This record gives sequence, C-alpha cells and structure tokens, in this order.
Amino acid sequence: MTDTSTSQSVLVTGANRGLGFECARQLLADGHHVIVTARDAAKGKAALASLSAAGRGRVELQLLDMASLASIRAFGERWEKEGRALDVVVHNAGVMQQSPTRRVTGDGLEETLATNAIGPYLLTKVLWPSLLRAPAGRVLMVSSRLHLPGSRGESVRFDFDDPQLERDYHPERAYKNSKLACLWVTYELARRSAATSVTANAVCPGFVPVTAAESVRGFMWFMMKYLMPLAPFATSLKDAGGSLKWCAVDPSIAGARAKFFAEKRELESSPESRDADKAARFCELAAKLCGLDAWP
Ligand SMILES: NC(=O)c1ccc[n+]([C@@H]2O[C@H](COP(=O)([O-])OP(=O)(O)OC[C@H]3O[C@@H](n4cnc5c(N)ncnc54)[C@H](OP(=O)(O)O)[C@@H]3O)[C@@H](O)[C@H]2O)c1
Repeated sequence: MTDTSTSQSVLVTGANRGLGFECARQLLADGHHVIVTARDAAKGKAALASLSAAGRGRVELQLLDMASLASIRAFGERWEKEGRALDVVVHNAGVMQQSPTRRVTGDGLEETLATNAIGPYLLTKVLWPSLLRAPAGRVLMVSSRLHLPGSRGESVRFDFDDPQLERDYHPERAYKNSKLACLWVTYELARRSAATSVTANAVCPGFVPVTAAESVRGFMWFMMKYLMPLAPFATSLKDAGGSLKWCAVDPSIAGARAKFFAEKRELESSPESRDADKAARFCELAAKLCGLDAWP
C-alpha cells in the first residue's frame, strides 16, 4: 500500500485491456493516481468503470490513438493546457499483426512501427514538460525479449534503408523491429536527458499467453488461452502487470537510467539495441516522420 505522500500520477497507454489494464488495476489498488488511455471511447469507458472499483487511487480516462500523430498531438495540447505534472508514463499500447499484408496508418506509416515506437516517441515529446514538472519523472517503454536476435520465428532485422518494411514486410519482423526501436528511443532519451530529473527505462513483461491470445485465431488462440499459460516459461497476467508496476513506481529503482528490466531485475538487451549511433539515427528518423526538428 502507498500512502498519499508517495502516490504517483501514472499514465498507462492502451489500458482498456491486457497488461495495461492489469498494471492500472494494481497501481490503483496501491493508491496511485492513474490516467488510463484507450483509442476507443466505449472500450475506455468500460475499463474505467471496472477500474473505478479497483482500489483507493483516482482513475481518469483519456482518449488516445497511438497510431495517429494528430491524436497524440491533440492529446498533448489538451494535457499541456492544464499544466499538470506527470510522474510516470508507461508506453504499454502495442500491436502484433498476424496478417501478411502490410498495413499503414492514416499518416502513411507502417502500423506496427507507428504504434509501438513512433507513437511512444511523439507522446514522450509532448509529455516532456509535464514529466519535467514532476520531482523525478519516469518514462517506461514496454519492449520485448523478442527484439533479441535468435528469438523464435522471423528474425529481427532493422534496415535503415527500408525502416517501414516496404520491400520485405513480415508481421513478426515488424513487431521485433518495433521493439528494438523502442529500446533505441529509451536509450537515446536516457542519454540526452542525463542532466534532467527524468529517467527512461524499458521492460519486457514476459510471455503472457492469455493477452497474446487476442492477436491470434483458431487453434493458436486455444493454445494461447488455455494450454500455454501452463507452460513453465509463461508469465501470468498478474505477475506481468506487477512487473510493469514495479518498473513504473518502485522506489528501489528510482534514478535508474537506460536499463532493460524483466521479472523485476535487469536484463541485457541486444548489442544492436545498445548501438548509440543507431539509437540516434532512429530518433532522427522518428523526428522526421513526425515532422519535428531533432528531438531529444
Ligand atoms: N503479451 C505478451 O506476451 C507480451 C510480451 C512482450 C511484450 N508485450 C507488450 O506488452 C504490451 C501490452 O501487451 P498485451 O499483451 O497486453 O496486448 P493486448 O492485450 O493486445 O492489448 C494491447 C492494448 O494496446 C491497445 N492498442 C493497440 N493499438 C493501439 C493504438 N493504435 N492506440 C491506442 N491503443 C492501442 C489495445 O487497444 P484496443 O483494445 O483498442 O485494441 C489494448 O488496450 C504491448 O506493447 C506488447 O507488445 C506483450
């Protein structure tokens, strides 16, 4: 339990279901003030209703589509008008496409990279003044061990000559590349903000079949929903939500910068994720795609 003096304001993206919802539920139970975001108003309101009964903390809903630059900018303007301080942003919203057909957002960006990496990059930028107003703002990117080379399935391969996979699209590669890009944003942000009060870190929540089941169909759905959760390598929804909460607010890691966590301890991310030139290059690309001057 958290007393009111240590209660944090935490914004969790994509919190209408899955890990975001569970993380929000646990934060509220501990008395934190949680701002949940959802792209769909009806789903957001339903989540808000069940979260409101979850604990002592205050919960509010904001509509935010992470695949739309205009939605993120509009949210940032609304938020900044209020001049609020924000202690933590948890970039949880994410997609893992199954279809072999490449999808683009209304901004013309490949959807997985847009939602999982470009959106969080822009959202961090618009929330930056608010994070600086907090005593020790935290940025938490939800990445994945799947960014590691050799992880199951189609391998990670980020080509700066084809960052949006126009030539060689594969949904699994798009996902892994986006989670590598998340780490680049985290590490570049941590480097550039070293002299500020804001810290940036990333987390892998573990393999959570029950939520991953939402992205698949047929027999795979059955496996994910009912069989995989029994596997020793699977993580429960409760543990994964707890691990996000720990990275977001636990005092034991206050001041940590540029770390990659999993199961509440530090894990080594791939050598490529630690390539400072690539991290800077990705942030330059993200800025360009968002129509910004270089940031951070
Ligand atoms: N589950 C795992 O095994 C696993 C492992 C490693 C990493 N992760 C990462 O953990 C995070 C949460 O995963 P999860 O398993 O909880 O996924 P999930 O159950 O599929 O939930 C994803 C959430 O993100 C939201 N979302 C998707 N696209 C969005 C957009 N354009 N704008 C706003 N919200 C959007 C979804 O909203 P809608 O309801 O509107 O679709 C939903 O609330 C993701 O970043 C995922 O990549 C998951």
